[in-house]
Amino acid sequence: MINMFNDSKLNLHLDIGCASGDFLFDLALINTHWNYLGIEIRERLVKTAKLKVKDRKIKNLYFVFGNANNILSDEQSKFVFENLKSISFNFPDPWFKKRHYKRRVIQQDFINELSNSLQKGSLIFIKTDVKDLFDYMDYTILNNLNFKKIEKKDFNFSESFNPNKVQTNREKYVIINKLDVFEGIYIKND
Ligand SMILES: C[S@@+](CC[C@H](N)C(=O)[O-])C[C@H]1O[C@@H](n2cnc3c(N)ncnc32)[C@H](O)[C@@H]1O
Repeated sequence: MINMFNDSKLNLHLDIGCASGDFLFDLALINTHWNYLGIEIRERLVKTAKLKVKDRKIKNLYFVFGNANNILSDEQSKFVFENLKSISFNFPDPWFKKRHYKRRVIQQDFINELSNSLQKGSLIFIKTDVKDLFDYMDYTILNNLNFKKIEKKDFNFSESFNPNKVQTNREKYVIINKLDVFEGIYIKND
């Protein structure tokens, strides 16, 4: 995972479950002073996204194939955390059946691992259209006492990874269909 970006010193944003990466392409093209990294478990989507990055010669965008839960505990990815400023979980799979809950991306162990690796001031953004899933993710993140919630109205997006509030594909669909979007922003305090 070395040399993912032209300038590895830029602030880094990580999008977990990035699907085809359209959201990150939109962000990377506008905000050239940020690096963007997407992790996606569907290999075909990652292969296509990587080819697109190469074709378009985009230097601040990188995609990794795999299960986010495993990848972040990988020894090789430790250096990612050096410049990592924020992580987004946009519309992760709801896994409606109870026996599938253990497949959810946000798990207590995963949040605790992130908490150990993230620098003070790092941010986690979550969005979903499923209220129960939102409640579960919100509870799991706040159950780790290193994270505190920031009210959206008090948050200054202009200096974030997404100053123009670019929407993900799922978010566009949800908004067009007049469904609710539940979202939370959390900061690592200690
Ligand atoms: C409903 S889609 C949302 C895609 C995109 N974030 C959006 O908002 O349009 C959820 C994505 O997360 C991916 N995903 C689910 N579990 C994952 C995991 N453990 N690691 C990486 N990606 C995962 C799925 O393959 C899928 O592409």
